[in-house]
Amino acid sequence: LFAPIALAPRDPILGITEAFNADPNPNRINLGVGVYVGDDGRVPLLECVKRAETLLLEGSQPLTYLPIDGLQAYDKAASSLVFGADSPAIAEGRVVAVQTLGGTGGLRLGADLLRGFTPAKRVWISDPSWENHRALFENAGFTVETYPYSRERGRELDFAGMVGCLSGLPAGDVVILHACCHNPTGLDLTPEQWAEVIEVVKARGLVPFLDIAYQGFAEGLDPDAAPVRAFAAAGVSMLVSSSFSKSLSLYGERVGALSVVTSDSAEATRVLSQLKRLVRTNYSSPPSHGAKIASAVLGSPELRALWDEELTGMRTRIRSMREALAEKLTALVDGEDFSFITRQRGMFSYSGLPQLVIARLREEHSIYALDSGRICVAALNSRNIDTVANAIAGCLKT
Ligand code: LMR
Repeated sequence: LFAPIALAPRDPILGITEAFNADPNPNRINLGVGVYVGDDGRVPLLECVKRAETLLLEGSQPLTYLPIDGLQAYDKAASSLVFGADSPAIAEGRVVAVQTLGGTGGLRLGADLLRGFTPAKRVWISDPSWENHRALFENAGFTVETYPYSRERGRELDFAGMVGCLSGLPAGDVVILHACCHNPTGLDLTPEQWAEVIEVVKARGLVPFLDIAYQGFAEGLDPDAAPVRAFAAAGVSMLVSSSFSKSLSLYGERVGALSVVTSDSAEATRVLSQLKRLVRTNYSSPPSHGAKIASAVLGSPELRALWDEELTGMRTRIRSMREALAEKLTALVDGEDFSFITRQRGMFSYSGLPQLVIARLREEHSIYALDSGRICVAALNSRNIDTVANAIAGCLKT
């Protein structure tokens, strides 16, 4: 039965973690996957999460099924975090929110909704984009194309190229946009550039699907969601996939959401009914623990303020690692300016390092980055940054 099945290629991101885990070198460093690691070299358990878990334990609720579309308090909290507590679209009952298995689950559920219930057949992702975008939308039955996004080996934004491409697309095509901390380049649009994109999307009748997996890692929770809110204010129907994996350091809990902005509340009811069918026939209903933690944090002013503080700490530490890496590399490598690392936002630096250098880092130094040259700056710390900078410089010189 299974004999004709060919071997699938290794996942370009999680496959790097597999290779890292198999490396016996005790000094191996994983700069592949987008996971924030503290200065102590460990993935943090946030204090706000710890306190929320304590509250949940004290309440000792039975572990019954959640509704198909997830914990209602969570759905509300997740959508108001992206659209804003005073969102007119939410107040008008036009926003449908469904708890999903991480941001990836939100993207897939949105893809299935679009493919199954709208005429959309083509999805446009940025070039480059998150490695899983293409495969995810292709597996959902879409043809996937790319719009220009960067130049200078991914170090500069190609805004003219992006807008030029979007301006030529036919109505109904879906455009995937990274609301903040573009993955992998770390290059984000200015508010003025977003306004221009929104105008084009609206004028052409395109379907915006915003991916916001790193809310809070660029400027803060509210400013990072500004593009989502600007789209909603423009009155377009849209989809948003959001995630608490990084912002609450809840990776393994798979806590995400799909929010769909519809034209009116009757449409919202119909969309929700179909989303529930998609979920029920796929995994029935989502798991409860992570969603309970997230809604406990978001529902308590005290825990929410603590979260903001902890998120600011993560964001500030990443920035200091960016500055240190840029400084060290500029000192070690003659004639190269690495200041672009400090201008990129979020967890990643799209380093522009050639694939040969990435391979040597892996083979000679047990330093794991993506073949595309993407480095997770959020995994650097005061103990490994010199090793990384020296290894990169060494590979670039010889
Ligand atoms: C990444 O880009 O490394 C993260 O979004 C994790 C993932 O699922 O790929």
